Formats: sequence, structure tokens, C-alpha cells
Amino acid sequence: MIIGFLLLLQIHHINAAFSPDRSNYDAYGVKIAMNDIFLVQAQNAQVPPSFFIQFAPYNNTQSSLQCSINYDNIQNYVYTVAVGKNPNQNQVQFFFAGEVLNTGNGTFIGVAKYNLTSNVSNPSNFCAAGFSYSTQYLTNYAHQEYFIIGVEPKGLLVYGFANDFIFIFDSQNVSTFESWNSSLTWPNVSFTPHAVDISDNFGVVAGFIKDDPTGRVKFSPIIYLLNFNSSNRHPIVVGQYVPDTTSGTWQDLLTNDDADIYSAKYSMSISIDSRGYVLVGMQFINRVFLFSVNISNPISLVNVSRNTNGRSLGNGKSVAWLDNGNMAAILVNTYSLAYQWVSSQIYLYDMTLNNYSSTSTPLSIFPNYHQSLPAGFSSTFLNIASSSTSLTLMDDIGTLLIFIPTGPGLFPSMPGTASVPTITSAKGCLPGMYKSNDGINDCILCPAGTKASGNSSINCTPCASTSLCSLGSTGEVSISKVQNRDQVIAYPESPDSTIFEEILIHNMFHIGSGRCLVISPLFWSLIVAGLAFLVIIVVAILHFCTMNPEGDRVKKKIQYTFKKIDMIREGELWVGGLASLSLIVMLSFAYAFSNGYFKEYPIESVSDFYLACDTSMRNAKFQTGLQPLGIAHDDSEKEMLYLLDEQSFTLNVAFLNTLIDCDVISIQALFGTTWLTTRWSSCANINSVLSLSIPLPSQKTSIEISIDDIGTIGALRIGLSGPTKEEDLHYLRELNAYQSFSQNGSALAHTLAVSLTTTKIINETIPIDGHDSNYTGIYVLTYGADLNSLFLSQGVYSQLTSTETVLTVAISESTYYVKNRQEPIVKRAELIFHNLLFTVVCFEIFGLLFVIYKLIFEPTYQLIVRMYSRRRERYRANDQRNNEELTSIDNRSNGEPPMVSAL
Ligand SMILES: *[C@@H]1O[C@H](CO)[C@@H](O)[C@H](O)[C@H]1NC(C)=O
Ligand SMILES: *[C@@H]1O[C@H](CO)[C@@H](O)[C@H](O)[C@H]1NC(C)=O
Ligand SMILES: *[C@@H]1O[C@H](CO)[C@@H](O)[C@H](O)[C@H]1NC(C)=O
Ligand SMILES: *[C@@H]1O[C@H](CO)[C@@H](O)[C@H](O)[C@H]1NC(C)=O
Ligand SMILES: *[C@@H]1O[C@H](CO)[C@@H](O)[C@H](O)[C@H]1NC(C)=O
Ligand SMILES: *[C@@H]1O[C@H](CO)[C@@H](O)[C@H](O)[C@H]1NC(C)=O
Ligand SMILES: *[C@@H]1O[C@H](CO)[C@@H](O)[C@H](O)[C@H]1NC(C)=O
Ligand SMILES: *[C@@H]1O[C@H](CO)[C@@H](O)[C@H](O)[C@H]1NC(C)=O
Repeated sequence: MIIGFLLLLQIHHINAAFSPDRSNYDAYGVKIAMNDIFLVQAQNAQVPPSFFIQFAPYNNTQSSLQCSINYDNIQNYVYTVAVGKNPNQNQVQFFFAGEVLNTGNGTFIGVAKYNLTSNVSNPSNFCAAGFSYSTQYLTNYAHQEYFIIGVEPKGLLVYGFANDFIFIFDSQNVSTFESWNSSLTWPNVSFTPHAVDISDNFGVVAGFIKDDPTGRVKFSPIIYLLNFNSSNRHPIVVGQYVPDTTSGTWQDLLTNDDADIYSAKYSMSISIDSRGYVLVGMQFINRVFLFSVNISNPISLVNVSRNTNGRSLGNGKSVAWLDNGNMAAILVNTYSLAYQWVSSQIYLYDMTLNNYSSTSTPLSIFPNYHQSLPAGFSSTFLNIASSSTSLTLMDDIGTLLIFIPTGPGLFPSMPGTASVPTITSAKGCLPGMYKSNDGINDCILCPAGTKASGNSSINCTPCASTSLCSLGSTGEVSISKVQNRDQVIAYPESPDSTIFEEILIHNMFHIGSGRCLVISPLFWSLIVAGLAFLVIIVVAILHFCTMNPEGDRVKKKIQYTFKKIDMIREGELWVGGLASLSLIVMLSFAYAFSNGYFKEYPIESVSDFYLACDTSMRNAKFQTGLQPLGIAHDDSEKEMLYLLDEQSFTLNVAFLNTLIDCDVISIQALFGTTWLTTRWSSCANINSVLSLSIPLPSQKTSIEISIDDIGTIGALRIGLSGPTKEEDLHYLRELNAYQSFSQNGSALAHTLAVSLTTTKIINETIPIDGHDSNYTGIYVLTYGADLNSLFLSQGVYSQLTSTETVLTVAISESTYYVKNRQEPIVKRAELIFHNLLFTVVCFEIFGLLFVIYKLIFEPTYQLIVRMYSRRRERYRANDQRNNEELTSIDNRSNGEPPMVSAL
């Protein structure tokens, strides 16, 4: 019974014991650490569990530079490893912290020291044999959910922070191990540390504090700034920062109620650079904070900026400084809010720009289309660790990838052959890219307006202003190559008036200026009328002023001649003859105009009409409309539709400003519902323009062009062509239209979808004589493509991971066709009739003038003449009488005043 009870106790004990998943690299802390001397990784899942060591330089993986050393106890579970950032060259040691499983020894802190002089004679064994462990157990403390360690830069002293305790462990004097209840240090006793980094004279710790249990938020993040007591080197909290959330944001709604139990979701990351800048990553709120601390008086944490990456988790899963703080590497994971992994990327920022924020553009992003993940590397990234210039990335299965810095013009490229760990090798920048600095960052695409034609460019060279140099240009292409060709213009509209009388009358009685004046019939008629007026004046002068019989004869002759040509009053009036001249001029113009106008049809085959003031005047009216494809008007139109249907298409695609050649292109066409490989009829890259012509199997198909190359492309031009065909009155016009797509400052994306819709256009020309209409037909193309998805800016382009460009062109046809109809305004018979009418009208108008003359002018004239002559007679009579009276007065001489009798 007693044995049974003890067994039960034992089982209970085992069940209650801490049993982490040894293969999970994301549990209970960061499993890698590195500095300029070596890299260490804790491999809990190895049998037996061991540390993997890789010595610098990290540029090769020969066995003399790496080894595995077993833990000193196979029961050990290592939470985390840590190294000093700037140790002395001869001091190779790392710290490890963890827990002994299944025993009462509890948590531990240990140091593995390497004896440089131990076995130089045997390089094959130097590593494994050279390390020796010293471990301290914290038997007083039970299992710790959070247990982190921070090593000061010299790498001699390590601080341990756990839920319950804090300790100082001196690698030079392991016996003087000092630990104390953590509540003695933290201002808030509920503080649980999640991440720490320590610089020369200060440290930063981030973690959670417990809130009021009745409140909505159970645990809140907090960041403490630590100083160290100069005598006992104990940490002292001197400053703090509470990441506040903007109310109403999703971060504000988090309760963090499970933050007291270890969860990778709540992991934090801190990195301090030599200038006192501090990066703190908190992936559960998707934020990275940048603080600055005055290194000569480190008493406050100054918030500089922060970077939030939208509504997901994982931004700042791990942070690291490089190059003395000139560059920052941020592991940006994306997890759903339920912590389901979506993607992993490393963003490298140029921190000398001092613009780190949510909107700043990274220098480069890994992985991308020319830095793909190496074979065997998981796409889920867990941690990054940096030495002064190199960066190590660990994935979720513990595989390591070391980025070695490269010089200007070179970038770290993924190796073709597998090695452990995977190490990048320097490779020249691709054409269209440049790199001017030393570092692990990728090459950068040349900005718009510049180009880099060759490999390994350090700078981009400016392009001429007349050429197209988009983002990542490899050459120059004349801007004239980026053009569109439309074969169909809007169908003309009918003139305002399509009634011939109106047109004729308007043109006959219109006086313009300049050329219009010279061809104006009214103008010439008036000139003639003016001359006629002169003749009238001459006749009048002859009539009134000269008593010369010669003059009278000339007058008579003129009057006789003009009387003969009087067409208005049928030879009645000589003035009518004068008016007839004017009328003849007017009518001649009318006939000439009508004749010319009649010939102005159809508009396609005529030239300017010089007899009208408006030379674009045509004898044509137009009608345009849409027709459903199924309903053809008549057989003739059906025939035209058939010709259009039978036209064979060639798809012409040009990729502008690219070095890509034909050898990497494969084409598939959609035959019915299956994609089959098809051929091009021509393909060539001339002067950075890759032109491709593909005969299409049918008019309505889709073509997929795959370019298995990572070269950049500046612009795209797509078009269709088809041959011409003529069948008696049906004329199929040659199709050759294209459209260019380009966007300044962007490069062509890798997945391109363009839809092309063809619409039939049929022109029917009704003949001016005869019955059968002439038909012409052509296709007009409508392009469906969104420029913003065809083109990507620098920021998005550098995140692309696909290594090929795929262009899909889907060709479909509208369900309607456009029917244009051209008809003459006036046909021959109508024209003759209208001219006849016009002639009659003119005669009538002139006749009217004479009627007016007869009814108004003549009587008035007569009246005036009569009044004038009567007056003259009276005057003459008076004169006579006066003379007579004067004589009689003289004769009588009776003194009577003459005036009285005169009155
Ligand atoms: C590795 O780096 C060291 C030091 O920079 C250099 O001497 C050595 O040639 C490099 N080895 C390779 C394989 O690149
Ligand atoms: C427990 O710790 C003691 C020293 O404190 C050590 O001697 C012993 O080997 C440890 N036991 C285990 C199982 O690690
Ligand atoms: C290093 O190894 C050498 C040779 O084995 C030995 O003499 C020396 O004491 C060791 N040094 C330390 C610090 O353990
Ligand atoms: C050095 O290596 C040799 C060969 O493996 C071995 O015989 C010798 O004992 C080693 N010396 C030390 C100090 O480990
Ligand atoms: C180790 O610590 C003890 C006790 O604090 C001290 O007496 C001794 O001098 C230290 N040794 C070294 C090498 O620092
Ligand atoms: C540490 O101190 C706190 C508060 O003083 C106390 O509640 C707790 O039990 C202590 N922990 C240990 C392991 O002594
Ligand atoms: C039909 O019209 C087209 C285009 O205007 C022209 O080229 C062709 O000669 C015309 N055909 C006939 C028979 O008029
Ligand atoms: C129809 O006529 C218009 C105007 O002349 C012309 O622009 C267009 O190209 C013609 N369309 C066809 C299909 O011939």
C-alpha cells in the first residue's frame, strides 16, 4: 500500500513536472546568439542535446570552424543562450540558462568557456574538447515561465531575470553567485520579464505587469530602463515606458489575459546599439519602438518613433542592430490575430536616415525574387541575431542562415549547394540595380530616370530626358516607343442641317471674310449690282445734264441693250437687264456649288470643298448605333460580320526596357478549355525592346506568356494585328492597333493580367447612284488593365518573391457591334429639282423687287417730279406777272408802293 501510494505520488510528480516540447525552437526563449567570434545555437531536440558552435569568419563551413558540444546533463532544457557583444578576442564563452527536467535541481545558469590553448595540435577535435562548463543551480526556485538572461558587452557578467528572481553570475568567479527575490528590484512586483538587452552602462527590460484583476485588461506591457549599482552591480530601475494604445484601435481591445503563461505570441525582443538607440519589438501589438538613451547619463528612455504594421501580429518578432547602428534588421512576421503564421520577412532599414516609422521604406527585404529561401529552409522565421556586420536567421526547425556582408556592387546571394549552416555568398548586383554600401543589404533598383546596364553596379547613370527609364532600368528606350495606335476614330456626326435647300440658301447668301468673301455668291452679285448702279448713274447724267444729242444716242443704246437682256420683266425694262446680270452671277454660283457639293460623297474619297466657306462641308449624313451580334440587318451585313469573324489575329506584345531575351519565354494558349504550348512567329530583343508576335489559334482565346527571368521590365505594349481582305463590296480593313502601359517610377509587376475586348465596327456607305451599299469593317480594341496592379513601386517590387513574370492576355469579344451608316444628303434627281426651285425663287425675288419698284418707287418719283414741275411753273408765272406790273406802275406813276401790289 505504501509502495502504491509512493508510486502514485511519483506519477503525480511526473505529471506536474515541466515538460516542454524540445523540438520547438520558439519556446521559452531565444536559442541563438552570436558575436564577432562565434555563433551558438541551443539544440534541445538533438540526441543527446547539444550546442552547435560556428566560429567566425562565417564565410565557410569547414569542420575545423564548427562543432557540437553536448549539454553537461541530458536532462537540461536550455531556455536561452547569450554572448557578450564586444568580448576580448581571446575570450570565447557563452552563457546558457534553463531548467533541469524531472529533478529537483530547478533552474540553472551556466557558462561554457573555451580554452584556446587546449588542443591546437588537433584541429579536428579542438572545438568539442576545448569547451568546459560551469553551472549554478537555483534550487530555491521552482519552474519559471519566463527566464531571460542579459550579458554585458564584455561578455563576463550575466544578469538573469525570471518571474521570481534576479541574479548576477560572474563568469570569472562562478562561486560568487548572487540571487534575490525579484520583488526587491521591480517597482511593480507582478512584473514578468520577456526580453532584455544590456549595454555598457544601462539595460532595457521589457515585460508585462499584472493589472487590476477586475479591470478589462489583465496584463499590460511595460519597458524598464535599468542602471547598475556601481558597488554591487545590482540593477536599479530608473525609467519606464508604458506603450499606450490609441483608443479604438484593435491593440486597445486586447486583454492579454494569458500573458502570465509562456506563449511565443508574447515574446519580445530588444537590441541596443553603441550610440544608445534601443529597438524594442512587441509582436503581440505588431509594433517596434525606437528609443534613445543618453549614454553618458542613461536615466530616461526617450521615445523616438514606432512602426506598426497593420492589423496582424508578428512585426518585431526579433530585432537586431548592425554596422554600429547604421542598419537595423527587423524580423517582420505576419500572424493572424489567432496567431496562425502567414508570412515571414526580414526588413533591413538604413537607420542613418533617421526616419524609422510605420511609413519608412526599408532598404531591402528578404526573401525576394533574387534572394529566395535556400533549399530546406523553412519559410517560418523565428529569430535573428547579429554580430557587428553579419546576421543569422533561424527558422522554426532550427536551420540557420548566415548573411555575410558584401561590398559595394555585390549582394548576399543564396548558395546553390546546401551546407550547415547555410551561408550567403557575394554576387554582383543584377542589371538595373546598384549597391553603394558595405553590408548585408540587397542591391537597390535604380530609381526612375537612371539606369544600370551591367552587373555589379555601384551607381546608376542618369538617362537622357527623352528616354524611358523606369524603376530598375537596364537601358534606355526612346519615349516614342511608348505609344498607342488606334485605328478607329469617333464616327462623324451629321451636319446641323441635312436639308439641301437650307444648305444652298445659306451658302448663297452668306458673306464671310477673307476666302469666304471671295467665294461668296452674294458678294459677286452685289459687285455686279454696283456696276449696274454706275450704269444707271451714267444714264442719269446723260439724261439730265447734257443736251448733247450724241449723249442722248449713247443713252438710248445702253437702254436698248439692257432691255434686250432683261429676263425679269421679259424685256420690258432696261434696268431689269442690269438686275438680270446680277441674277445670272448668283445662279451660276448656285449651279457650281450644287455640282461640287454633289460630288462631296462619300467622305472617305473626297477632298476639301473649296466652293463653300466651310471646306469640310460634305454631301453626307451619318447614323451610328449598336446592334446585338445575333441580329444582322441583311445578308450583305452578315457577309461583313463573317469576314470579320474569319480574320486571323496575331498578338503582338513588347516588353520595353529590358535585357530579357527570347530564350526564357514560354507561351501557352487556351484551346477550348485546355492550356497548350504554342509558338511565336517572331521574337527578338532589339535595343532593350523585347518584341513578340504570337499567331492566335482563335479570336477568342487567352495567352499566357511566362518569362523565366528576374530581369526588370519598364513598360508593356500589347496589340493585335490581322490581315486585310476584300470581297466585292465588303472590305475588311487591316487590324494593327496597340496600346502601351507605363507608369513613371514603377516597374512591371510579375503577375500581369490584361483583358482585351474586341468590338466589330462596320461602316455602311449607301451609294449615291445605285443600290448596293459598300461595307468596311474593322475591330476596335478595348483594354482592361489596371495600371496600379500592372506596375509596382520600389517598396512593393522589392518584396516580390516570384522569379518569373507571367502575362495573361484574355481576348474576348463584345456581344454587340457598332454599325455606322453614311448616306448622301442629296442625290442627283433631288439636286436638279432643288436647283430648279432655286432658280425660280431667285427670279421671283428679283421680280418682287420690280414690283416694289413699280408700286412704291415709281409713284413716289412721279409725285416728286410732278410737285417740282408745278412749283417751277408757278414760279415762272409769278415772274412774268411781276414784270408786267412793274411796267404798268412805271406807266401810271401814281405813287402807289410796288410791294403792296406784289403781295
Ligand atoms: C573568409 O573571410 C576571411 C576573412 O575576411 C578571408 O580571409 C577568407 O579568404 C574568406 N574565405 C572565403 C572562402 O571567402
Ligand atoms: C543538482 O545540482 C547539484 C549541484 O547543486 C549537482 O551536483 C547535481 O549533479 C545536480 N543534479 C542534476 C540531476 O543535475
Ligand atoms: C587550457 O588548457 C591548457 C592545456 O590543456 C591548460 O594547461 C590550461 O590550464 C587550460 N586553461 C584553463 C583556463 O583552463
Ligand atoms: C589533444 O588531442 C590529442 C589527439 O586527439 C589527444 O591525444 C590529447 O590528449 C589532447 N590534449 C588535450 C589537452 O585535450
Ligand atoms: C571571487 O569572489 C570572492 C568572493 O566575493 C572573492 O574573494 C575573490 O577575490 C573573487 N575572485 C576573483 C578572481 O574575482
Ligand atoms: C518574493 O517576495 C514576494 C513579496 O515580498 C513574496 O510574496 C514571495 O513569496 C517571495 N518569493 C520567494 C520565492 O521567496
Ligand atoms: C468601298 O469602300 C472602301 C473604303 O472607303 C474603298 O476602299 C473601296 O474602294 C469601296 N469599294 C467600292 C466597290 O466602292
Ligand atoms: C468608318 O468611317 C469612319 C469615318 O470615315 C472611319 O474613321 C472609320 O475608320 C471607318 N470604319 C471602318 C470600319 O471602316
